[in-house]
Amino acid sequence: MNNASVEKRIRELREKIRKYDYHYYVLSESLISDYEYDQLYKELEKLERENPHLITPDSPTQRVGSDLTKEFPPVKHRVPMLSLSNTYNEGELYDFDRRVKENLPGGSKVEYVTELKIDGVSVSIIYRNGLFFKAATRGDGFTGEEVTNNVKTIKSIPLKIDDQKLKEKGFNDFEVRGEIFMELEAFRKLNEERERNGEKLFANPRNSAAGTLKLQDPQLVAARPLDIFVYYLLLEKDIIKTQYETLITLKELGFKVNPHFKLCKNISEVLEYCKEWETKRDDLPYEIDGVVIKVNSVEQQKILGNIAKSPRWAVAYKFKAKQATTKIKKIVWQVGRTGALTPVAELEPVFLAGSTISRATLHNIDEIKRKDIREGDTVIIEKGGDVIPKVVAVVLAERSPESKEVKIPGECPVCGSKLYRPPDEVAIYCQNTNCPAQIKGRIKHFVSRGAMDIEGLGDALVDLLVDLGLLKSVDDIYNLKNHYDELVNIEGLGHKSVNNILSAIEKSKSQPLERLLFALGIRYVGAGAARKLALHFGTMENLMKATEEELEAIYDVGPQMSKSIRAFFDNPENRKVIQRLKEAGLNFTASVTKTGAQVLMGKTFVLTGTLGSMTREEAKNKILSLGGKVSSSVSKKTDFVVAGESPGSKYRKAKELGVRILNENEFLQMLEKGEAVQ
Ligand code: IVH
Repeated sequence: MNNASVEKRIRELREKIRKYDYHYYVLSESLISDYEYDQLYKELEKLERENPHLITPDSPTQRVGSDLTKEFPPVKHRVPMLSLSNTYNEGELYDFDRRVKENLPGGSKVEYVTELKIDGVSVSIIYRNGLFFKAATRGDGFTGEEVTNNVKTIKSIPLKIDDQKLKEKGFNDFEVRGEIFMELEAFRKLNEERERNGEKLFANPRNSAAGTLKLQDPQLVAARPLDIFVYYLLLEKDIIKTQYETLITLKELGFKVNPHFKLCKNISEVLEYCKEWETKRDDLPYEIDGVVIKVNSVEQQKILGNIAKSPRWAVAYKFKAKQATTKIKKIVWQVGRTGALTPVAELEPVFLAGSTISRATLHNIDEIKRKDIREGDTVIIEKGGDVIPKVVAVVLAERSPESKEVKIPGECPVCGSKLYRPPDEVAIYCQNTNCPAQIKGRIKHFVSRGAMDIEGLGDALVDLLVDLGLLKSVDDIYNLKNHYDELVNIEGLGHKSVNNILSAIEKSKSQPLERLLFALGIRYVGAGAARKLALHFGTMENLMKATEEELEAIYDVGPQMSKSIRAFFDNPENRKVIQRLKEAGLNFTASVTKTGAQVLMGKTFVLTGTLGSMTREEAKNKILSLGGKVSSSVSKKTDFVVAGESPGSKYRKAKELGVRILNENEFLQMLEKGEAVQ
C-alpha cells in the first residue's frame, strides 16, 4: 500500500470501529461478531504501529494510555457544577412548582423534564473541534480534578464527534456533563474479585466508580466497566432552547443519554413519573437514588437563576432509602477524632442495596433510648445516600427476653480515661486528646482525600503507625522519613511502597492553606469554610492573629466557628503542631489570595432586586471593600448589574445596553474568588 492508501484505510477502519463502538456501547446492539470486530481493530493497530506518524489522539486505539497519571491537576469549571436541593415527598415537590411559578412572570406556563437520578459520579468533558479534549471531576463545584486519561477509556464516550453532525448543529467546541457509573452486576463481580485477592471491598457501585476514576493506571481503569449517561450540554452560544432539546442533541451527537427521560406538562405528571420509578428502580441494571426535575425552558431557567450552590430551576426527588431486617449482635462504642463516642451496632451481615452490611450507626445514647434499641434485637436498617447504614426501628414482636439494654460506658473504651458529657449536648466525649483513637482519627482526617491527600497512608497503616508509636500527632507524618528502616520492616510494605508513601508525604507539603486548614480538623471548619478563611487571610500567620470579631466579619463565619477557631489557635499544643508543620516546610499560603483585596478596582456595579444571602447595603460594602464602585443607575459605563429576586427596570436597561448581568451565585463567586473580573 502506498502512503495515501494507508492513510485512507486507517481512516476507514477508525470510522468503522467508531460506528461499531457507538452501536455496541451506546445503543447496546451488536452489528458484527466479536471476531470480525477484533480483526478490524488488529488491522488498525498494525497499520498504526507501522506508521506511528499517523496516530491521532482520537483513534479508537488511543483510549487506553500506557503512562501512569502522576497527578490529577485542578481544573476550574467554566460554569460551576451545581448540586441540587432535595425533595422527599409530594408536598415538597408541589412547593418547588409553586416557587418556580412565583419567580416567573405571572401566568407563565411551565413544563418540566424528568430524568432518572443516576447514583454515580458527575464529570465534565470538554470537546474542542469536535474532539475529546479534557475531562474533570466535579470537585467542590468550582474546581475539579483532571481525569482525562481515565475518562477516555470509557467506550460509550466518543473521542470524536461526527463531522457531519457538527456541521448540522453549527458548533465545534462544547462541554458535556453527565454521571459516570458502574452497573450493579459489574460492581458485584469487581467486589468478588477483590475479595478473592484480599483487597478492600467497595461499599456500593458509586464508590467503586469514584475509586476507579482516581486510579493512576488507565489500563486498570479500562479493565473496569465504567459507563456514562450525559444530561447537560454547555455551548458558547445559547442556541438550544430547552432541556428536552439538549437531551435529543446529545443523543444525536453520539452520546449515551438515559432513555427514560420524559417531558411533563405539569407537576402532577412529574409526580406520577417519580412514583412510577420509585417502584421500578430495582428493575434497572444500575442504581438510581431519585428523579431529577428540570424546568424545560432555558429562558425560564435563566430567569430563575441559582441560589448559592443549587439552581432554582431544578430539584431532586429522592427515593426513600432501601431497608432490610437483621439482628444486632453487639453494641460497641467508637471514639472519633473529636473524642466523641458513637454507638455502633454490630449486625448479622445482611445484603442491602448492592452490598453486605455488618455495622450500623446508632448516632447517640438518646436515640438508642428513644428507639429502645437493645443488643440481641431484630431491627430494620436502611441505607440512604452515602451515609453509613442506620437503624430505623426495632421489630418489637421479635424481641427475646435475652435482649440487653445498652449502658453508657463509664470510661473511654480505648484509653480508659474519664468521659465528659457537656451540659447542652447529647454526645459523650473522651477528653484525653492523646487517646490513641483520637490521634488515629485526626491523622486519618489529615491525610484524607479532601484534606492533604496523602496517598498510601491508608486507615490500617495509620492505625499501625500510631500503635507503633511512630505517629503521635499530624506533624509526625513529616518525620516518618527518619524512620525508613522501621517502615520497610512492616509486613506488606517494601522499599517501593515506603518510597511512594514518603514521596506522597513530601508532595503534600505544597498543598495550599485551604487544604491544610481543613486537614487540621478545627471544629466546625469544613472544606468550604477553610477555603473562605484561606482566601480572606491569605496566610496561616494572618489567620492565627485574627480576633473573634474579625473572623465573624467574614461572610458565613458565625460566632460558634469563630470561637472554635480562636480556641484552636490559642491552645499551646496546637501552636506547637503548627510550628512544627512550618519547620517541616509546609505551604502556609492560600492558592488564590486577594492581595490588596482590590480585585474589583475600576469596576462599576449596579444592584437590583433582592439578594437572598445579604442585604443591599452589605452587598454594596463588599463591592466597595474590594475596590469597586456602586452606582444607582445603569449606563454604558456600568460593568456589572447584579440581579437578585424580582429585579426592576435596571435589569431591562442592562439587557438593552448589553451590560453583563450577574445572578446572585455569580456575584458571590466573584466576591469569593476575586477572579471573575478580567
Ligand atoms: S443535573 C444543576 N441530572 O445528582 C444541575 N444531575 O445532586 C445539576 N445526577 O451533582 C445536575 N443524575 O452528580 C443532573 N439526570 C441528572 C442526574 C444528576 C444524577 C447527580 C449529579 C449531580 C447530583 C445533584
